[in-house]
Amino acid sequence: GSFQQCFSSDFQHSYNSTTSGSMIFSKNNSTYASLLKSSVRNLRLLINSSEPQFIISPFHDSHVQAAVICSKKHGMQVRVRSGGHDYEGLSYVSDIVPFIIIDLVNLRSISIDVENESAWVESGATLGELYYKISEKSNAYGFPAGSCPTVGVGGQLSGGGFGTLFRKYGLAADNVMDAKIVDADGKLLDRKSMGEDLFWAIRGGGGSSFGVILAWKIRLVPVPPVVTIFKVKKTLEQGATEHLHKWQAIASKLHEDLFLHAVVNVANAPSNGGSKTIQISFISLFLGPAERLLLLMKVSFPELALERNNCTEMSWIQSVLYFAGFPSRSPLRVLLDRSPQSKSFFKAKSDYVKEPISKAGLEGLWQRLMVEQTSLLILTPYGGKMSDISDSETPFPHRSGNLYQIQYLVTWDSDNETQQQIGWMRSLYAYMAPYVSKSPRAAYLNYRDLDLGQNDNNNASYAQASTWGLKYFKNNFKRLVRVKTVIDPSNFFRNEQSIPVFPS
Ligand code: FDA
Repeated sequence: GSFQQCFSSDFQHSYNSTTSGSMIFSKNNSTYASLLKSSVRNLRLLINSSEPQFIISPFHDSHVQAAVICSKKHGMQVRVRSGGHDYEGLSYVSDIVPFIIIDLVNLRSISIDVENESAWVESGATLGELYYKISEKSNAYGFPAGSCPTVGVGGQLSGGGFGTLFRKYGLAADNVMDAKIVDADGKLLDRKSMGEDLFWAIRGGGGSSFGVILAWKIRLVPVPPVVTIFKVKKTLEQGATEHLHKWQAIASKLHEDLFLHAVVNVANAPSNGGSKTIQISFISLFLGPAERLLLLMKVSFPELALERNNCTEMSWIQSVLYFAGFPSRSPLRVLLDRSPQSKSFFKAKSDYVKEPISKAGLEGLWQRLMVEQTSLLILTPYGGKMSDISDSETPFPHRSGNLYQIQYLVTWDSDNETQQQIGWMRSLYAYMAPYVSKSPRAAYLNYRDLDLGQNDNNNASYAQASTWGLKYFKNNFKRLVRVKTVIDPSNFFRNEQSIPVFPS
């Protein structure tokens, strides 16, 4: 028999063939191409890449089990896709063929239990859908995950997940209480039946090495009725370098209610016709009213000279819209729109900073950014709750001792530019080496970067995988390999950067 026959027969006892027809798509099906591209965020990955034999979009947990069992039987690789925002497209592109995509778009129900301050969320839901559903039930709760509403719950929670609330409540992964997963044998497990090792691994170790995570039980966190946002911009001419230098020293020490990140981009110089400058936007979410924020800022960062008219008070869910980039007064239901707000070619990398970077170091960075007008840096302060959680509590190891994280991002519009842009990004990363964390030079898994190293397709060795594994997971890497070796000894769930199995 074929994969398709296996898949269709495996659940036919409970689901008729009409259901199966609207769930499995091959290349000659008219839905295949649009479904394949639907949630892809990085257009770079659609050029010259291998395509899946089938895309399966399950409506029920048992369909996922059947897809795994039949893939194993018929020698198919599996790629699992929730929101499709993987930076290197590992949820829908595979070096190993033939492969199928299990696209969880139809497994996205969310049930909020305000009384118990928890929720069950299926992996195919987006963060926007989750925030919307929480606010529909209560304005007193939120969830500490990322800012981009089209990011999928599956990738975000399994890789860590941070946003404007993480200095107070930790990562999305830190707020997971239970999960449901289909393992490499097609078995459906919950926290109790999977055991604490696997439950540990999928909260920051990346889901794709371990199985298909169907759903998560999460802890809702309290948010106050009024929060305050501000954005203050400084160009080089307005002392941006000095402001950022000060910011480095204080941002991770601010009160945990105060999140103040810095976004660096290239802008037109105000007075000087046609020439460029660096602009730094200091953007904040404060969990409380403006008056208290002004007092805190006056003590910690008086140089920014924040004023009441820079501040806007609003509800937490409105701040979600703001950080998602929607115009103020947009209706909340824009959070339900699953199509990415913009699609482009892009390359990104990440670093962790432990000592403030010198002004000379920053100036050298600005010079390099100035060459690429579509470059962007996002500097995210750590500290607060992040420093209270031990490095080994979850696989995500970047806790106390980090001042901030840098994300480097460059975008472009056509494949002609790809080589040059990636080359530029690599040289920027080389320039930054002396200023950032060393041995290992740490990186954030959810900003996946295949430049850090890749598995040989069928033959991931521990030594080879250590090159990137230690950067993403530091001392937690070995434990992830141990868990992987127990849960998936045949290395069925593998990809270019999956966790390897110890040699038997
Ligand atoms: P996708 O579906 O591509 O999956 C990512 C990886 O997880 C793949 O390897 C995939 O196989 C695996 N996976 C997905 N679902 C799974 C499941 N159910 N079971 C097992 N494995 C599964 N991050 C952050 O922390 N804070 C932020 O604010 C942002 N903001 C942001 C904005 C934009 C525009 C992008 C493109 C990305 C971010 N991110 C982010 C990074 C984001 O957290 C990261 O890309 C996530 O892995 C995306 O999750 P998706 O489910 O969308 O990706």
